[in-house]
Amino acid sequence: MRVKLDGFLKTRKALIEERLPLYIQDLQAPSTLKQSMLYSLEAGGKRLRPILVLALLHAYGKKEENGIPVGCAVEMIHTYSLIHDDLPCMDDDDLRRGKPTNHKMFGEATAVLAGDALLTESFKLITSHMPAEVPAEKRLRLVNELILAAGAEGMVGGQILDMEAESRSISLQELQSIHEGKTAKLLSFSVIAGAVLADAPEEEIEKLREFSHHIGIGFQIRDDMLDLEGSEDKIGKRIGSDTTNEKSTYPAILSLEGAKQKLDEHIEQAKQLISELSLEKELLYEFCDMIARRDH
Ligand code: IPE
Ligand code: IPE
Ligand code: MG
Ligand code: MG
Ligand code: MG
Repeated sequence: MRVKLDGFLKTRKALIEERLPLYIQDLQAPSTLKQSMLYSLEAGGKRLRPILVLALLHAYGKKEENGIPVGCAVEMIHTYSLIHDDLPCMDDDDLRRGKPTNHKMFGEATAVLAGDALLTESFKLITSHMPAEVPAEKRLRLVNELILAAGAEGMVGGQILDMEAESRSISLQELQSIHEGKTAKLLSFSVIAGAVLADAPEEEIEKLREFSHHIGIGFQIRDDMLDLEGSEDKIGKRIGSDTTNEKSTYPAILSLEGAKQKLDEHIEQAKQLISELSLEKELLYEFCDMIARRDH
């Protein structure tokens, strides 16, 4: 059942990991900065955001190569978000992707700057490193979508709400909008970017936006669950970090059982939306199941 997705994840991860460091190595920038950027980028990770861009191109039967620069761009932004998320002034974590966090290796100031540089340089991949056949207006659309997903109206906004929700009780509605901002928006960008590059019809792009909302919330619910019941070796992060920081999470509000139920509901809705689209569905159905059951 899972054979197709497993093979896809493995081969595309390798493809992304081959390309990702090249964009940094080519920069005319101070070597400490480049080392710190590369340290976190090369530390591993599942690469799900770039893989999603390629999965959408694949599902629409289009050239995946066109999605690699934009996939690497979103992975750079995601990696910067993790570097900053781990800082002592935020979640204060010392393990990420199975290795010491960026600030433990390079110091806080360099970690902040490596994050800043990854964020800024990511946009260059879209403006200047896309295959020539991708027209300027499509690149502009992708840049705009990425600003919405990553900035004050997206991931950064969600991170502030997440911090403000520490040590107090919030409604499920509030928690959902935190997860929407801090996590779903970037995953959503990957889906939209793949669909835009594949020339998907506009009404399907809007359905995919809804689909990605559900997998994004589901992804963060599973992350919250793994913080409680996961294995440190597998997730490459310290478990119990959310409990220490008194975070508002799905299991904290609904219990583990209730969180699992919510996760299943979102995954079902995501699959329903896929069933209404004119693309190869099997890979995306498998992607949904993987999000619900992942152990890392
Ligand atoms: C972790 O993301 C942070 C969240 C948004 C939940 P991932 O679980 O995708 O982390 P990596 O990239 O595989 O390390
Ligand atoms: C963070 O959520 C999402 C980001 C924008 C980085 P978490 O704080 O739960 O992510 P982890 O568990 O540290 O990866
Ligand atoms: Mg956090
Ligand atoms: Mg964290
Ligand atoms: Mg977490």
